[in-house]
Amino acid sequence: MRRITVVGPGRVGEATAQALAREQLCRELVLLGRDDEAARGVALDLQETASLYGFDTRIQGGADPALLAGSDLVVIAAGAPRQPGQSRLDLLATNRQVVEGIVDQVRRHAPEALLLVVTNPVDVLTYLAWRRSGWERRRVFGLSGVLDSARMAAFVAEETGLSVRDVQALVVGGHGDAMVPLVRYSHVGGVPLELLLERKRLAAIVERTRRGGAEILALKKTSSAYDAPAAAIAAMVDAVARRRRRVLPCVAVLEGEYGVRDLALGVPVVLGGGGMERVLELPLSAEERAMLQVSIDQVREALADLVGGPQEEQG
Ligand code: 2OP
Repeated sequence: MRRITVVGPGRVGEATAQALAREQLCRELVLLGRDDEAARGVALDLQETASLYGFDTRIQGGADPALLAGSDLVVIAAGAPRQPGQSRLDLLATNRQVVEGIVDQVRRHAPEALLLVVTNPVDVLTYLAWRRSGWERRRVFGLSGVLDSARMAAFVAEETGLSVRDVQALVVGGHGDAMVPLVRYSHVGGVPLELLLERKRLAAIVERTRRGGAEILALKKTSSAYDAPAAAIAAMVDAVARRRRRVLPCVAVLEGEYGVRDLALGVPVVLGGGGMERVLELPLSAEERAMLQVSIDQVREALADLVGGPQEEQG
């Protein structure tokens, strides 16, 4: 890619920019923030790692939305971070305004870009960003399952004592406490998890995955996770920039898949040069479907709280 812009040079944005630069996923990287000097400072700090990590990516920072011009991909990582005790949904009202404002700027300065939404609550904000954009749904997608599945993979490796390289974990649903770690679709080297771990230990992994973000926040106290989120974002950007057509769980706008419309949710998709190229619909058991429904209802409720229910969307 020629240019990628990361909006929001906070901890997630900075860690993401470092990962994108190290993997040389673009020639130009922009960090856009509200405070011009602070954004330039972050960019300069990162640029000075170039000879150490061996990347040629040019990094610039600033507050001028015109910096978006020419971006092939924009990562939206701006917004207030989650405070201890605060749910992701509490962040909704504050972050909606921030994200919609950014979408307007992207439409103006980078009308061909793809949008990767990271700001929480990510399912609701991905949906609202897409609506605001007026674009095809493939162009607007969000981070959730790649991060949640990476957490689950770490816990599976820890519990089994097996290499994490062979662990394939799959988490779908909203990026909240009701997310759905799909044990039946997870495996280690092709061996189903259910053959490797007893039910009780599997249930503990599912629970810990669901609280993955909260566990980090409770330990760090003054900051949410940012290393794993940045690595997950970089994996998604890599799939797009290198046109890999990877199968990854991402937040996608649904148009009837899983019986859902007018909502965005974490589901397995094909992620490639065109963005979210295809939604993959998995057959679910009654129990899995019931868990997913709880998550769907939670996301729908958050959206309804904010925009007055799905009826509004028809217009
Ligand atoms: C996380 O899962 C806070 O959503 C963020 O770490």
